[in-house]
Amino acid sequence: MAEIKSIGVVGAGQMGSGIAQLAAVNGVDVWLHDTDADALNKAQDSISKNIQRLVSKGHLSQGVVVDASRRLRCTSNVEDFGSVDFVIEAIVESEDVKKKLFTQLDRIVKGSAILASNTSSISITRLASATSRRSQVIGMHFMNPPPIMKLVEIIRGADTSDGTYNVTRVLAERFGKTVICSNDYPGFIVNRILMPMINEAFHALQTGVATKEDIDTGMKLGTNHPMGPLELADLIGLDVCLSIMKVLHTGLGDSRYAPCPLLVQYVDAGRLGRKRGIGVYDYNTRAKEIKP
Ligand code: NAI
Repeated sequence: MAEIKSIGVVGAGQMGSGIAQLAAVNGVDVWLHDTDADALNKAQDSISKNIQRLVSKGHLSQGVVVDASRRLRCTSNVEDFGSVDFVIEAIVESEDVKKKLFTQLDRIVKGSAILASNTSSISITRLASATSRRSQVIGMHFMNPPPIMKLVEIIRGADTSDGTYNVTRVLAERFGKTVICSNDYPGFIVNRILMPMINEAFHALQTGVATKEDIDTGMKLGTNHPMGPLELADLIGLDVCLSIMKVLHTGLGDSRYAPCPLLVQYVDAGRLGRKRGIGVYDYNTRAKEIKP
């Protein structure tokens, strides 16, 4: 099996920047691409701060930091991906936008390269259909934040080969992750179960069952979750949660997956969660009460 020496990461948002960091500190050369120059600058900044934090806590040596910064290169031109062995796509959760990117990547990268998507819910089989290398397309779903969370969910599309699966699994394990494998159904394993719970928490908030704090505390202390569903939604991004619910609703064809109107309203209002400073909670003025 060929060893992965270099990867390209598309999308320098919260997931893409974390994945690029993971790869660089684990000895893989990384190109990180985003169409938004601002996102690239922020990603570079947050990666170097995160790495320094790991050094100060004694989790990384200064030698690894020097090596990682040499390995990481940022680019606003995806054509730079010509020589990479493996691509991980982490752009907006939209099938149309991802398909266009996969078609473009299929043209740019070398014939042996694998194209992986970090999608939370979208069909890998349909993303693969936008390329001429269906057997080399796979889902590689990191959890948020990628450098910390222990799991990678690998999703095999209808045509994903055993070779592609094995290379992806070895790469995830090299990053120190535990792998689970899902078949290609909407939301796969984790979001098939997690997102309806988050959606239900929005229904509970909308119908006045309890305050957001009590809903979150109830689920944290009552079910031993590290975060409540509403604060987790803010971490994930309410836009991402809404996109996943729409995929579940359309793909599974059952009204129980319909997105909660309050979730839709927050996204319409630009309250996307921590990344915008406001979602269910207000991160600018934590004391300020936000009425649902
Ligand atoms: P984000 O909104 O933080 O970042 C997305 C980035 O992609 C932005 O910087 C944007 O400029 C860039 N982008 C958009 N279209 C592009 C294109 N055509 N070419 C290059 N760059 C482009 O989003 P986030 O949260 O990082 O999510 C990315 C993907 O990861 C989505 O598919 C999402 O479902 C998935 N995911 C998200 C998780 C989360 O907790 N937020 C967890 C696991 C997966």
